Amino acid sequence: MEEKDRKDRNSYHWYPGHMTKAIRMMQENIGLIDLIIELVDARIPLSSRNPDIDKLGAGKSRIVLLNKSDLADPEYNRQWAAYFQGQGAHVLEINAKTGAGVKAINNLVQEACREKLERDRKRGIVNRPVRAMVVGIPNVGKSTFINAFAGKACAKTGNKPGVTKGKQWIRLNKSLELLDTPGILWPKFEDAEAGMRLAFIGSMNDEVIILEELACDLLTVIRQLYPENIKVRYAVEWGEIPAETLEAIARSRGCLARGETLDMKKAAGILLDDFRGGRLGRMTLEHP
Ligand code: G4P
Repeated sequence: MEEKDRKDRNSYHWYPGHMTKAIRMMQENIGLIDLIIELVDARIPLSSRNPDIDKLGAGKSRIVLLNKSDLADPEYNRQWAAYFQGQGAHVLEINAKTGAGVKAINNLVQEACREKLERDRKRGIVNRPVRAMVVGIPNVGKSTFINAFAGKACAKTGNKPGVTKGKQWIRLNKSLELLDTPGILWPKFEDAEAGMRLAFIGSMNDEVIILEELACDLLTVIRQLYPENIKVRYAVEWGEIPAETLEAIARSRGCLARGETLDMKKAAGILLDDFRGGRLGRMTLEHP
C-alpha cells in the first residue's frame, strides 16, 4: 500500500458535500443580518466550529451557544463560556433538546445588539427588529434549537426584498426575527485530532470509520481525562493498551461473536453509544 493511501485510511475524514452552496447562502444573506447565533458542541467547542465564521461575520453581533451542555463537563462549560466572552461574543450554555437555557437568549440578544439598537434610536428608527441567523456544523443541534426557540407559535413574516427567494423570516417577537434556514458550516480541521473528536461525538459518517479503532482512540482520551468513568460504567480495570480495555468491556457486556470469540465491533458500538448518549458521564474533550 502506498504511504499516502495508508495515511488516508487511518485518518478521519469529512466529506464536505454542499459546502460551497451553504457558504454562498450565508454570504448572500449576511448583509441582512444584525446578529449571528453560532451553535457549538459544548463537548468539543473548538473542533465543532468553523473559524471562517469569524471572517464571514466580521462586524456583526455574536452569540455563541454552548449546546448539548447537558453532555459536557459543567466546570468546562464555565471555562468555555469565559473563553468565548473573552473573544467578544455573548455566551450561553443551553440544552436545545429540553429547551433549558433557551429563554435567556432574548435578553442576551438585546445585550449583544445594544450598540445597533442605540444607533437606530439616534437615527429615529424605532421598533426595527434585530435579524439573526443561526449557524453551526451539521448535527450540532440547529434544527432542534430553532424549534425550541421559535416554538410552534412563530409566524413566518413572508419574503422580503433582498432575501434569497424562498428564505423566510420567523418573527419571534416584536424585537427579533430569525432567518428560517440555518447556515450550515463545515468543521475545519487541519489536524487529525479535531476530525477524531468529531467522529467521537458522531458528527462523521460512522460508515467511513473503523469502529474498533475509534473506540480505542476514545478510550485513550477518556483515560487521560475521566479515568474513573469507564471503571464505574463497565466494572473493568484499565488494560495496558486500549484494545485490552475494549476487550474487558466486551467481556463485561457479554459481546460474543461465535463461540468464545469476543465481538469487538459490538463492544466498540456500545462504548461509542454510551459516550454519545452521556451515559459515561458528562465529559468535555477539549479545554480552553
Ligand atoms: P442540526 O440541525 O444542526 O443538524 O442538528 P439537529 O437539530 O438535527 O440535532 C442533532 C441531534 O442532536 C439530535 O439527536 C438532537 O436531538 C440532538 N440534540 C440537539 N441539541 C441537544 C442538546 O442540547 N442535548 C442533547 N443531549 N442532544 C441534543 P438525534 O439522535 O438525531 O435525534 P433524537 O433521537 O434526539 O430525536
